[in-house]
Amino acid sequence: MKNILIAPSILSADFSKMGEEISRMQMSGSDIIHCDVMDGLFVPNITFGPKMIADIRKITTLPLDVHLMIEKPERYVEHFIKAGADYLTIHHEATKELVPTLKRIKECGVKSGAVISPDTEVNVLKGVLQYCDMVVLMSVYPGFGGQKFIEKSIQRLNELSELARNENPSILIEVDGGVTKENAKQITNAGATVLVAGNTVFSSSDPRDTIKQLKS
Ligand code: DX5
Ligand code: ZN
Repeated sequence: MKNILIAPSILSADFSKMGEEISRMQMSGSDIIHCDVMDGLFVPNITFGPKMIADIRKITTLPLDVHLMIEKPERYVEHFIKAGADYLTIHHEATKELVPTLKRIKECGVKSGAVISPDTEVNVLKGVLQYCDMVVLMSVYPGFGGQKFIEKSIQRLNELSELARNENPSILIEVDGGVTKENAKQITNAGATVLVAGNTVFSSSDPRDTIKQLKS
């Protein structure tokens, strides 16, 4: 059985108790903490910047997966690396400098990732995956937690898995948005190795059990 990693998204946490929320996720068996950075331009919502990442870095040993939903992410790569990101992922739709920026992230010793939104063709990632440690398929429109999984994402994930087999077989394939206990199996069967889960784990009365179920 392949090892599935679970990455709770702190977008669904209570921001006034961030430390406790992250400890709760770490104690419940999370593998990665997913941090959604939004600028109110690339997406119609605003969250937090590098200071939040730096503060979270001090209170957890888990890897931080920083998902930049910001225009021209190349402007902020160094800031988030300095803050302590372990994975730094940037959207294809947000930059004209995808590959150079991915290369810069890797040169800094941080794991790099490309992200595509639901309406972007998987093919745009041809020739890009070799510069990535992770690739992220958005299965909701970026901007908000708690949305419904877009069903066509399964077909897109099959395509992406095929491309990854050809171009970078060891890449992590992350699916972000609308992951539940009910659809997790279908998503991992289609090739995902990392599941982001916001609403599903944070709203659970037993996150440890929920994480266990998502993994199996
Ligand atoms: C959406 C974010 C996701 C979101 C996932 O823009 O990138 O990471 O928080 O949350 P759920 O699992 O609730 O869909
Ligand atoms: Zn995200």
